[in-house]
Amino acid sequence: MVWCAFKQRFLWRPLRRIIISARRHYCGTDKTPHVAIVGSGPAGFYTAQQLLKGHPSLRVDIYEKLPVPFGLVRYGVAPDHPEVKIVTNTFTETARNKRCSFIGNITVGKDITIGELQRAYTAVVLAYGADEDRKLGIPGEDLPNVLSARQFVGWYNGLPQDRDLSVDLSRENAVIIGHGNVAIDVCRILMTPIDTLRKTDISQYSLDQLAASNVKKVYMVGRRGPLQIALTIKELREMIRLPECRTIIHKEDVLDLDKVISDLPRPRRRLTELLHKTGVSPSEKDSKHWATASREWELRFCLSPVEIRAGNAGKSVEGVRFCVNRLEGEDIVNKKAVPTDKTVDIECGLVLRSIGFRSIPIDSSVPFDSQRGIIPNQNGRILGTTGLYCSGWVGLGPVGVILTTMTDGFEKGKLVLKDIEEGRLDNSGKNGRDQALDILKQRGVQVVSFSDWECIDEAECKNGQQHGKPREKMADTADMLKAVCSSTTS
Ligand SMILES: Cc1cc2nc3c(=O)[nH]c(=O)nc-3n(C[C@H](O)[C@H](O)[C@H](O)COP(=O)(O)OP(=O)(O)OC[C@H]3O[C@@H](n4cnc5c(N)ncnc54)[C@H](O)[C@@H]3O)c2cc1C
Ligand SMILES: NC(=O)c1ccc[n+]([C@@H]2O[C@H](COP(=O)([O-])OP(=O)(O)OC[C@H]3O[C@@H](n4cnc5c(N)ncnc54)[C@H](OP(=O)(O)O)[C@@H]3O)[C@@H](O)[C@H]2O)c1
Repeated sequence: MVWCAFKQRFLWRPLRRIIISARRHYCGTDKTPHVAIVGSGPAGFYTAQQLLKGHPSLRVDIYEKLPVPFGLVRYGVAPDHPEVKIVTNTFTETARNKRCSFIGNITVGKDITIGELQRAYTAVVLAYGADEDRKLGIPGEDLPNVLSARQFVGWYNGLPQDRDLSVDLSRENAVIIGHGNVAIDVCRILMTPIDTLRKTDISQYSLDQLAASNVKKVYMVGRRGPLQIALTIKELREMIRLPECRTIIHKEDVLDLDKVISDLPRPRRRLTELLHKTGVSPSEKDSKHWATASREWELRFCLSPVEIRAGNAGKSVEGVRFCVNRLEGEDIVNKKAVPTDKTVDIECGLVLRSIGFRSIPIDSSVPFDSQRGIIPNQNGRILGTTGLYCSGWVGLGPVGVILTTMTDGFEKGKLVLKDIEEGRLDNSGKNGRDQALDILKQRGVQVVSFSDWECIDEAECKNGQQHGKPREKMADTADMLKAVCSSTTS
């Protein structure tokens, strides 16, 4: 025991210190480390925050393909949830740190390669999220007005690539496939009274179309049962209480839930209680408000889409054919949906597919797991590489709220700091931003700095105020570039 403590104190610890200091010397880590982060969503900003906090001189540059920061906080979070967007205040504080630069309007993989970033930076952290959606792979999926929820969200949130999405809201019924929080966001936007939406930062062109919408009924259809639903209680409660909209949860779908409620873990238990109560014995207040509602949404369970049926010689959607599933498996939450030979048809003129997202490869030099749609990594270190990390959805997969992404970003920041501290990374001849900006300058790419973004921000807020909204987003990249005050980085 005493011998072990002696060895630890007088042999191993000094030896470790000598190894770390030699590595630092030979790898040049005594110099200021420069870290590039690709993506300015929550993962990018929280990783940057941790890196700046944990090292006195380290510099961080955040690359973003759009001229504007904040990823899904700007382009995903629903416009009627402004309180969620308060996190951008923390991100702004990080961006204004003298050791941090926002380098916007740069698509990494196209304007600059990962290899070039690796040559300029001590470490490169990929935090570029999950920009694509999963597909169902069924006939009719490419018909007009069969949209991905990802694009629909981008459309109402003013994402430049989705602003021209063709959305037809002229028919009464819509079907949303999926039981997650994105599905319920989309359902709420379709069902919310227009005067409520007018006070949000929803894009004006989508507001105009929603004001003229004929959609009166939304079916939200999941392939498994109420015990496996992926949405959360706050969002369900909000939908149940939505003014002028009735909730339909069929009694027979939820009647037996009370038999298992007490065995469920807490968040799932409360969610299940709400589903049960709403379907079996809704409160007097809810029943009263539903009695006069002009719109309704209906939750349907254990149905998998097998075909989207066309009408009007393939020019429109007529409905969705579902097969009825039964659930198999012991573990309640992980039960599998198994198709039966029964089918159900639901008529509709709009289909929104909300079955999750996936990342895309950024550059041929970065490994990619195309089956899972993520970068293969071990706790954030990208497999088979040195000095290359991933953070947020691109490494975890497209699940988790901002808080989950924050925890991951902090962890990944600590991991990079540890590797720097232990001299694992090559820091020789790395000049970070200056080196990268030279390359971008040679290619004639316009860089948008954080203070440029602040000009865009100011213009958007001013524009919004004229319409009684917190902001009117510019949905055209060219307009954003025109609004910037300068083209030098802050
Ligand atoms: C529709 C929707 C609504 C949501 N609402 C909520 C909510 O209300 N509350 C909540 O807590 N969570 C919400 N979430 C979850 C939350 O948004 C995620 O947890 C979080 O945004 C993931 O962060 P990320 O940084 O990994 O990805 P993202 O936020 O997607 O950020 C990735 C960034 O990388 C950029 N990028 C992509 N490719 C490149 C490239 N090649 N070069 C440079 N930059 C690139 C993108 O433009 C983007 O800015 C929502 C998610 C969605 C999809
Ligand atoms: N307000 C908020 O806090 C908020 C808002 C939006 C998003 N988010 C978060 O962002 C993340 C992504 O949300 P998400 O809704 O895109 O994903 P999600 O929570 O993973 O939900 C995806 C839904 O699609 C279903 N699905 C998947 N593949 C399917 C298929 N082939 N056929 C039929 N259904 C299929 C899933 O069913 P199975 O369960 O059977 O797989 C599930 O119901 C989540 O963590 C979410 O909480 C949060």
